[in-house]
Amino acid sequence: MLDVQGVVKGYYESHGLFKKKHKAVLKGVSLHVKRGECVGLIGESGSGKSTLGKIILGIEKADKGSISFEGKSEKRAYEKEMSVVFQDYTSSINPRFRIKEVIAEALGESIACAKEKRGYIVSLLEEVGLDTSFLERYAHELSGGQLQRVCIARAIATKPKFILLDEAVSSLDVSVQLQILELLKALKKKHNLSYLFITHDVMCVTYLCDRVIFFKEGECVESVDKIEDLKHISHPYSKSLLGAVEALEIPNFC
Ligand SMILES: Nc1ncnc2c1ncn2[C@@H]1O[C@H](COP(=O)(O)OP(=O)(O)OP(=O)(O)O)[C@@H](O)[C@H]1O
Ligand SMILES: [Mg+2]
Repeated sequence: MLDVQGVVKGYYESHGLFKKKHKAVLKGVSLHVKRGECVGLIGESGSGKSTLGKIILGIEKADKGSISFEGKSEKRAYEKEMSVVFQDYTSSINPRFRIKEVIAEALGESIACAKEKRGYIVSLLEEVGLDTSFLERYAHELSGGQLQRVCIARAIATKPKFILLDEAVSSLDVSVQLQILELLKALKKKHNLSYLFITHDVMCVTYLCDRVIFFKEGECVESVDKIEDLKHISHPYSKSLLGAVEALEIPNFC
Protein backbone atom coordinates (compact mmCIF):
# COMPACT_ATOMS: atom_id res chain seq x y z
CA MET A 1 0.00 0.00 0.00
CA LEU A 2 2.72 2.50 1.04
CA ASP A 3 5.82 2.21 -1.08
CA VAL A 4 8.98 4.18 -0.30
CA GLN A 5 11.65 3.85 -2.98
CA GLY A 6 15.27 5.05 -2.74
CA VAL A 7 14.57 8.18 -0.69
CA VAL A 8 17.57 10.47 -0.31
CA LYS A 9 17.51 13.65 1.78
CA GLY A 10 20.17 16.04 3.00
CA TYR A 11 20.35 19.43 4.68
CA TYR A 12 22.86 22.24 4.51
CA GLU A 13 24.32 23.06 7.90
CA SER A 14 25.89 26.45 8.61
CA HIS A 15 29.52 26.39 9.67
CA GLY A 16 30.48 30.03 10.20
CA LEU A 17 29.19 32.98 8.22
CA PHE A 18 29.63 31.72 4.66
CA LYS A 19 30.54 28.06 5.06
CA LYS A 20 27.76 25.57 4.52
CA LYS A 21 28.20 21.83 4.71
CA HIS A 22 25.84 19.30 3.21
CA LYS A 23 24.72 16.60 5.61
CA ALA A 24 23.14 13.43 4.22
CA VAL A 25 20.27 12.42 6.51
CA LEU A 26 18.58 9.71 4.41
CA LYS A 27 20.79 7.64 2.11
CA GLY A 28 18.46 5.75 -0.18
CA VAL A 29 15.66 4.38 2.01
CA SER A 30 13.21 1.84 0.61
CA LEU A 31 10.39 0.21 2.55
CA HIS A 32 6.87 -1.08 2.10
CA VAL A 33 3.81 -1.13 4.37
CA LYS A 34 0.87 -3.37 3.51
CA ARG A 35 -2.80 -2.77 4.36
CA GLY A 36 -3.56 -3.65 7.96
CA GLU A 37 0.10 -4.02 8.86
CA CYS A 38 2.18 -2.28 11.52
CA VAL A 39 5.82 -1.78 10.61
CA GLY A 40 8.18 -0.64 13.35
CA LEU A 41 11.02 1.71 12.46
CA ILE A 42 13.55 1.61 15.25
CA GLY A 43 16.75 3.62 15.40
CA GLU A 44 18.87 5.86 17.56
CA SER A 45 18.28 9.59 17.94
CA GLY A 46 19.26 11.59 14.87
CA SER A 47 19.21 8.58 12.53
CA GLY A 48 16.60 10.28 10.30
CA LYS A 49 13.36 8.54 11.35
CA SER A 50 11.24 11.69 11.68
CA THR A 51 12.71 13.11 8.48
CA LEU A 52 11.54 9.99 6.66
CA GLY A 53 8.13 10.36 8.33
CA LYS A 54 7.85 13.99 7.17
CA ILE A 55 8.73 12.97 3.61
CA ILE A 56 6.09 10.22 3.66
CA LEU A 57 3.49 12.77 4.86
CA GLY A 58 4.61 15.28 2.24
CA ILE A 59 5.71 17.88 4.84
CA GLU A 60 9.28 17.67 3.47
CA LYS A 61 10.43 16.94 -0.05
CA ALA A 62 12.92 14.19 -0.87
CA ASP A 63 16.02 15.09 -2.90
CA LYS A 64 15.72 11.78 -4.72
CA GLY A 65 13.42 8.78 -4.67
CA SER A 66 9.66 8.40 -4.57
CA ILE A 67 6.68 7.83 -2.28
CA SER A 68 3.58 6.13 -3.61
CA PHE A 69 0.37 5.17 -1.86
CA GLU A 70 -1.94 2.59 -3.41
CA GLY A 71 -0.12 3.22 -6.66
CA LYS A 72 -0.64 7.01 -6.52
CA SER A 73 2.46 9.19 -6.35
CA GLU A 74 0.83 12.64 -6.31
CA LYS A 75 0.67 13.90 -2.72
CA ARG A 76 -2.78 15.44 -3.32
CA ALA A 77 -4.12 12.06 -4.44
CA TYR A 78 -3.31 10.29 -1.18
CA GLU A 79 -2.84 12.86 1.61
CA LYS A 80 -6.43 12.38 2.86
CA GLU A 81 -5.67 8.68 3.40
CA MET A 82 -2.88 9.51 5.87
CA SER A 83 -2.79 10.81 9.45
CA VAL A 84 -0.11 11.35 12.03
CA VAL A 85 0.32 11.17 15.80
CA PHE A 86 3.42 12.86 17.20
CA GLN A 87 5.23 12.41 20.49
CA ASP A 88 4.56 15.93 21.68
CA TYR A 89 0.83 15.92 22.32
CA THR A 90 0.98 19.21 24.24
CA SER A 91 2.30 21.30 21.36
CA SER A 92 0.30 19.48 18.71
CA ILE A 93 -2.96 20.69 20.31
CA ASN A 94 -3.95 24.36 20.20
CA PRO A 95 -4.26 25.41 23.89
CA ARG A 96 -7.05 27.90 23.02
CA PHE A 97 -9.27 25.17 21.54
CA ARG A 98 -11.73 23.06 23.45
CA ILE A 99 -11.33 19.32 22.75
CA LYS A 100 -14.44 19.35 20.52
CA GLU A 101 -12.81 22.12 18.44
CA VAL A 102 -9.51 20.21 18.21
CA ILE A 103 -11.29 17.31 16.54
CA ALA A 104 -13.70 19.51 14.55
CA GLU A 105 -10.70 21.30 13.01
CA ALA A 106 -9.46 18.00 11.53
CA LEU A 107 -12.92 17.41 10.02
CA GLY A 108 -13.00 20.77 8.25
CA GLU A 109 -16.24 21.31 6.37
CA SER A 110 -16.79 17.60 5.67
CA ILE A 111 -19.88 17.47 7.95
CA ALA A 112 -22.15 20.49 7.48
CA CYS A 113 -24.80 19.66 10.09
CA ALA A 114 -23.64 20.82 13.57
CA LYS A 115 -25.65 18.14 15.40
CA GLU A 116 -24.26 15.40 13.18
CA LYS A 117 -20.74 16.75 13.65
CA ARG A 118 -21.09 16.74 17.43
CA GLY A 119 -22.44 13.18 17.34
CA TYR A 120 -19.47 12.06 15.26
CA ILE A 121 -16.99 13.78 17.62
CA VAL A 122 -18.64 12.07 20.61
CA SER A 123 -18.37 8.69 18.83
CA LEU A 124 -14.66 9.35 18.15
CA LEU A 125 -14.02 10.24 21.80
CA GLU A 126 -15.81 7.04 22.83
CA GLU A 127 -13.66 5.02 20.43
CA VAL A 128 -10.53 6.22 22.20
CA GLY A 129 -11.97 5.64 25.67
CA LEU A 130 -13.08 9.20 26.55
CA ASP A 131 -16.61 10.39 27.30
CA THR A 132 -18.70 13.51 26.54
CA SER A 133 -17.35 15.31 29.61
CA PHE A 134 -14.15 15.95 27.61
CA LEU A 135 -15.90 17.90 24.84
CA GLU A 136 -15.80 21.30 26.55
CA ARG A 137 -12.38 20.92 28.21
CA TYR A 138 -9.09 22.52 27.20
CA ALA A 139 -5.80 20.66 26.71
CA HIS A 140 -4.34 21.84 30.05
CA GLU A 141 -7.24 20.15 31.84
CA LEU A 142 -6.24 16.68 30.53
CA SER A 143 -3.52 14.20 31.52
CA GLY A 144 -0.80 13.18 29.04
CA GLY A 145 -2.51 9.87 28.32
CA GLN A 146 -5.90 11.56 27.80
CA LEU A 147 -4.33 14.15 25.48
CA GLN A 148 -2.68 11.46 23.40
CA ARG A 149 -6.09 9.75 23.15
CA VAL A 150 -7.49 13.04 21.79
CA CYS A 151 -4.64 13.14 19.24
CA ILE A 152 -5.53 9.59 18.20
CA ALA A 153 -9.23 10.53 17.91
CA ARG A 154 -8.20 13.46 15.73
CA ALA A 155 -5.99 11.19 13.62
CA ILE A 156 -8.79 8.69 12.92
CA ALA A 157 -11.47 11.40 12.42
CA THR A 158 -10.79 11.60 8.69
CA LYS A 159 -10.95 7.79 8.33
CA PRO A 160 -7.37 7.35 7.12
CA LYS A 161 -5.95 4.03 5.92
CA PHE A 162 -2.45 4.81 7.17
CA ILE A 163 -1.24 6.48 10.37
CA LEU A 164 2.33 7.56 11.03
CA LEU A 165 3.06 7.18 14.73
CA ASP A 166 6.21 9.17 15.48
CA GLU A 167 7.28 8.29 19.04
CA ALA A 168 3.56 8.41 19.85
CA VAL A 169 3.91 6.76 23.27
CA SER A 170 7.45 7.83 24.18
CA SER A 171 6.47 10.72 26.51
CA LEU A 172 4.08 8.61 28.56
CA ASP A 173 4.88 6.53 31.60
CA VAL A 174 4.97 2.77 31.14
CA SER A 175 1.47 1.89 32.37
CA VAL A 176 -0.13 4.62 30.21
CA GLN A 177 2.08 3.55 27.28
CA LEU A 178 0.60 0.08 27.52
CA GLN A 179 -2.97 1.44 27.52
CA ILE A 180 -2.29 3.58 24.43
CA LEU A 181 -0.58 0.66 22.64
CA GLU A 182 -3.60 -1.48 23.46
CA LEU A 183 -5.89 1.21 22.01
CA LEU A 184 -3.77 1.49 18.84
CA LYS A 185 -3.85 -2.29 18.45
CA ALA A 186 -7.65 -2.38 18.79
CA LEU A 187 -8.16 0.49 16.32
CA LYS A 188 -5.80 -1.16 13.82
CA LYS A 189 -7.85 -4.34 13.96
CA LYS A 190 -11.23 -2.59 13.83
CA HIS A 191 -10.43 -0.29 10.90
CA ASN A 192 -7.80 -2.46 9.18
CA LEU A 193 -5.33 0.41 9.63
CA SER A 194 -1.69 0.43 8.59
CA TYR A 195 0.89 2.00 10.89
CA LEU A 196 4.49 3.07 10.54
CA PHE A 197 5.52 3.06 14.18
CA ILE A 198 8.65 5.16 14.72
CA THR A 199 10.33 4.50 18.01
CA HIS A 200 13.56 3.82 19.88
CA ASP A 201 11.86 1.38 22.22
CA VAL A 202 12.10 -2.34 21.38
CA MET A 203 9.49 -3.31 23.95
CA CYS A 204 6.83 -1.14 22.27
CA VAL A 205 7.76 -2.69 18.91
CA THR A 206 7.23 -6.21 20.23
CA TYR A 207 3.84 -5.18 21.56
CA LEU A 208 2.38 -3.57 18.47
CA CYS A 209 4.36 -4.33 15.32
CA ASP A 210 4.12 -7.12 12.76
CA ARG A 211 7.55 -6.34 11.28
CA VAL A 212 10.55 -4.25 12.32
CA ILE A 213 13.15 -2.28 10.41
CA PHE A 214 16.37 -1.24 12.14
CA PHE A 215 17.47 2.19 11.04
CA LYS A 216 20.97 3.62 11.36
CA GLU A 217 22.39 6.88 10.01
CA GLY A 218 19.75 7.20 7.32
CA GLU A 219 19.76 3.60 6.17
CA CYS A 220 17.79 0.43 6.86
CA VAL A 221 20.43 -1.96 8.18
CA GLU A 222 18.29 -4.98 9.04
CA SER A 223 14.67 -6.03 9.00
CA VAL A 224 12.75 -8.68 10.87
CA ASP A 225 9.63 -10.04 9.20
CA LYS A 226 8.29 -11.86 12.24
CA ILE A 227 8.46 -10.39 15.73
CA GLU A 228 9.24 -13.87 17.11
CA ASP A 229 12.50 -13.75 15.08
CA LEU A 230 13.67 -10.62 16.87
CA LYS A 231 16.00 -12.79 18.94
CA HIS A 232 17.84 -13.92 15.80
CA ILE A 233 18.94 -10.52 14.48
CA SER A 234 22.53 -10.44 13.27
CA HIS A 235 23.60 -6.81 12.66
CA PRO A 236 25.71 -5.45 15.55
CA TYR A 237 23.68 -2.21 15.57
CA SER A 238 20.33 -4.00 15.89
CA LYS A 239 21.87 -6.15 18.58
CA SER A 240 23.06 -3.08 20.45
CA LEU A 241 19.55 -1.58 20.33
CA LEU A 242 18.17 -4.84 21.57
CA GLY A 243 20.96 -5.13 24.14
CA ALA A 244 19.20 -2.80 26.54
CA VAL A 245 16.35 -5.26 26.88
CA GLU A 246 18.30 -8.47 26.28
CA ALA A 247 18.29 -9.30 29.96
CA LEU A 248 14.53 -9.39 29.72
CA GLU A 249 12.71 -12.14 27.93
CA ILE A 250 11.22 -10.67 24.72
CA PRO A 251 7.52 -11.18 25.29
CA ASN A 252 5.48 -12.78 22.57
CA PHE A 253 2.60 -10.33 22.68
CA CYS A 254 1.57 -10.75 19.07
N1 LIG B 1 14.88 21.00 8.75
C1 LIG B 1 16.11 20.57 9.06
N2 LIG B 1 17.21 21.31 8.76
C2 LIG B 1 18.45 20.87 9.04
N3 LIG B 1 18.72 19.67 9.62
C3 LIG B 1 17.67 18.89 9.94
C4 LIG B 1 16.31 19.29 9.68
N4 LIG B 1 15.47 18.30 10.09
C5 LIG B 1 16.28 17.33 10.60
N5 LIG B 1 17.58 17.69 10.50
C6 LIG B 1 18.73 16.87 10.94
O1 LIG B 1 18.58 15.57 10.42
C7 LIG B 1 19.03 14.59 11.34
C8 LIG B 1 17.94 13.56 11.56
O2 LIG B 1 16.88 14.16 12.27
P1 LIG B 1 15.54 13.37 12.62
O3 LIG B 1 14.65 14.32 13.36
O4 LIG B 1 15.00 12.78 11.38
O5 LIG B 1 16.07 12.21 13.57
P2 LIG B 1 15.28 11.12 14.41
O6 LIG B 1 15.81 9.78 14.02
O7 LIG B 1 13.82 11.34 14.29
O8 LIG B 1 15.77 11.43 15.89
P3 LIG B 1 14.94 11.35 17.30
O9 LIG B 1 14.90 9.89 17.67
O10 LIG B 1 15.80 12.14 18.25
O11 LIG B 1 13.58 11.96 17.08
C9 LIG B 1 19.46 15.35 12.60
O12 LIG B 1 20.85 15.49 12.59
C10 LIG B 1 18.77 16.69 12.45
O13 LIG B 1 19.53 17.71 13.06
MG1 LIG C 1 12.29 11.91 15.62
